Amino acid sequence: MQNLLKGIIESNKIYTKEGTVASYIPELGKANKEDLGVCVVTLDGKEFMAGDAEKNFTMQSMSKVIALILAILDNGKKLVFSKVGMEPTGDSFNSITSLEVKHPERPFNPMINAGAIATTALISGETDEEKIENILSFTRKITGNKFIAVNEEVYRSEKATGNRNRALAYFMKSNGLLEGDVESILDVYFKQCSIECNCRDIARIGAMLANDGVLPWSGEKVISREVSRIVKTIMVTCGMYDASGEFAVGIGIPAKSGVGGGILASVPRRMGIGVYGPSLDNKGNSIGGIKILKELSDELDLSIF
Ligand code: DON
Repeated sequence: MQNLLKGIIESNKIYTKEGTVASYIPELGKANKEDLGVCVVTLDGKEFMAGDAEKNFTMQSMSKVIALILAILDNGKKLVFSKVGMEPTGDSFNSITSLEVKHPERPFNPMINAGAIATTALISGETDEEKIENILSFTRKITGNKFIAVNEEVYRSEKATGNRNRALAYFMKSNGLLEGDVESILDVYFKQCSIECNCRDIARIGAMLANDGVLPWSGEKVISREVSRIVKTIMVTCGMYDASGEFAVGIGIPAKSGVGGGILASVPRRMGIGVYGPSLDNKGNSIGGIKILKELSDELDLSIF
């Protein structure tokens, strides 16, 4: 496995020259376009890494997986899916049209920005601080990494420039879809997107989901099999936004991308995979990350279909 990963990083490094790093959140524009890393965590707890696997980046939209899990744990699936749908959009991750024109009663799914703002609003906690602390402590548990924290520069950058998310959130508030103070909800959302992680952290989350909610390294059950199945299914249909169909056909692994350049992938009953490459395609997905997952899927026959 180790040699396979090393070879895959070498053969795909060339693709990091394509695409661009996200710059609509200015702090993300500082990433090194040529970084490329991968980590695989198998269900017997073995870990394999290559390239820039230990480099830190922010979770961005991969945090939507964590927000969905916590929203369901705190409220039950019935309430959560009364506030957010489970259908793919075919639109970009921050689209306003799908929310207003096609589906005003609730956002399409928890993986687009509007849907994630809605799930974040459902996470337990009396105050913003308590909510983000709940998100951080759960993230520390499912990564086995006690140093998980918010990157304050990225958070401030998101907050300063997140007007599209503000528009989505105030629109949902006007329709009665969001309860509570919009700026507070957005603050928690911006912070969860700014949680720092590396390929190993996200591979471990993928491995927990692949293992039906059991942490491979300790045997602790952190979520039910049902919740892990719901999350993986939504990752397959919506996790790569308007590229989810092509990704399912070509690669066939439940996955969630983030504009920081990460992709969290979970191969049921086999492994978790974390990849990092901040150069993105025009849909906001890591170009090098997708290439790595394609090669791994072909080599190890990982497609679930
Ligand atoms: O809200 C945003 O726009 C970012 N914090 C997250 C978006 C994102 O990662 C989209 N993913 N590919």
